[in-house]
Amino acid sequence: MNTREMFAKAVDGGYAIPAFNFNNMEQLQAIIKACAETKSPVILQVSSGARKYANQTLLRYMAEGAVEYAKELGWEHPQICLHLDHGDTFELCKSCVDFGFSSVMIDGSSLPYEENIALTKKVVEYAHQFDVTVEAELGVLAGVEDDVVAEESHYTKPEEVIDFATRSGCDSLAISIGTSHGAYKFKPEQCTRDPQTGKLVPPPLAFDVLEEIEKKLPGFPIVLHGSSSVPQEYVDIINSHGGNLPDAVGIPEEQLRKAAKSAVCKINIDSDSRLAFTAAVRKVFVEKPGEFDPRKYCGPARDEMVRLYKHKIIEVLGSDGKAE
Ligand code: G3H
Ligand code: 13P
Ligand code: ZN
Repeated sequence: MNTREMFAKAVDGGYAIPAFNFNNMEQLQAIIKACAETKSPVILQVSSGARKYANQTLLRYMAEGAVEYAKELGWEHPQICLHLDHGDTFELCKSCVDFGFSSVMIDGSSLPYEENIALTKKVVEYAHQFDVTVEAELGVLAGVEDDVVAEESHYTKPEEVIDFATRSGCDSLAISIGTSHGAYKFKPEQCTRDPQTGKLVPPPLAFDVLEEIEKKLPGFPIVLHGSSSVPQEYVDIINSHGGNLPDAVGIPEEQLRKAAKSAVCKINIDSDSRLAFTAAVRKVFVEKPGEFDPRKYCGPARDEMVRLYKHKIIEVLGSDGKAE
């Protein structure tokens, strides 16, 4: 399904739809199992990197298989959207629309304002003919957005959102209020340190900017990218089992909980799943050095991801029970 009805219900209900990236079978199994067990709607996201790694055709049919798998797990009416994450050209978005994706993102956030509108509008005009919904982005996140490198983040300007949404015709809007991609969302100098644990405490998100945007576009679906919280228990397991992730830091879950209650109705999480996977695999490698059957370390990694996704759905996004 596309995102239209999912978002309308999420905005009304004060919760957010999980948008989880997938690159491999174990991740997809874990997402579907977590969503089936919690009856949560879900957006399965495919990035350009995922297409390169796993092949777009394979990923598309895996997503189709996932719907059947969900039913096998007893989820009678699965609500699953297949979404292109960070599409950067019209041609890429068109190919995903033609190929059966139900939603696409056109990320023109690195372009000048008018070019972003023109590109988004072109994608919207094409996608809507096939009832495919379109996410756009205004404002620049810090860090690396697939191939789009932003030197510095700049928050979305609330005074631009009405014009942008109206003229581009987009169905949802990703905004910049201080989140960013990856496991290093803030430099140590942007944070304070907890005197007890020595861990970094990140600066808060710009909720004032979010509120301004909500006032300008009441009820319009807002999206947050870069919303992993980088659970310190995974970072600690990784670091104590031969890894090296110094000062990895994410967005605190209370802030995401607060955002999910607002017009934010899609929250993107990828890095946390990578951390869960890596922590579980590293643990097996250290504790059972004789193990060489990938099912013996990918299996525990999958179980850990199921726990992570269920936690996000129930404790952070509030989307459990919304797709009975
Ligand atoms: O927004 C970025 C997503 O986490 C996808 O990352 O380009 O490494 O697949 P990727
Ligand atoms: P994280 O790196 O915070 O998981 O963000 C993922 C994302 O925004 C995918 O588009
Ligand atoms: Zn993103």
